[in-house]
Amino acid sequence: MPLYDAACAVRENAYVPYSRFKVGAALRAASGAVYTGCNVENVAYPEGTCAEAGAIAAMVAAGETVITEMLVVADSPSPVPPCGGCRQKIVEFAAGDVQVTLAALNGARRVMRVDELLPGAFGAGHMDGA
Ligand code: THU
Repeated sequence: MPLYDAACAVRENAYVPYSRFKVGAALRAASGAVYTGCNVENVAYPEGTCAEAGAIAAMVAAGETVITEMLVVADSPSPVPPCGGCRQKIVEFAAGDVQVTLAALNGARRVMRVDELLPGAFGAGHMDGA
């Protein structure tokens, strides 16, 4: 299934009683399988989780750790970008040249590489010598 269709489908399940802003994310892992996630909010607001985090958790739960492609979609006026925390979560499992498509339901799209989303990312190498 195309990532856009998968992300739109899971977006419908988003639990967003506080923001009313539904987000869907879909990623393809090294096996070719597609994993999806939606945002899940909480009355204790900081406990809410993003769609990207859900998709990554589903991938890891299935036994995979390599993202080859990702897409995020929301009903926003311009393509919806992953938040800062999600950029770091994506970097954990995706090489710098992996493409992340930011999409909006109105058809607007922007494709970015992971190393464009989070330039200068903190990585394991920064702990060398610790
Ligand atoms: N949100 C995501 O799920 N992913 C993004 O890329 C941006 C923001 C969610 C978090 C919260 O549930 C709602 O959108 C508003 O911030």
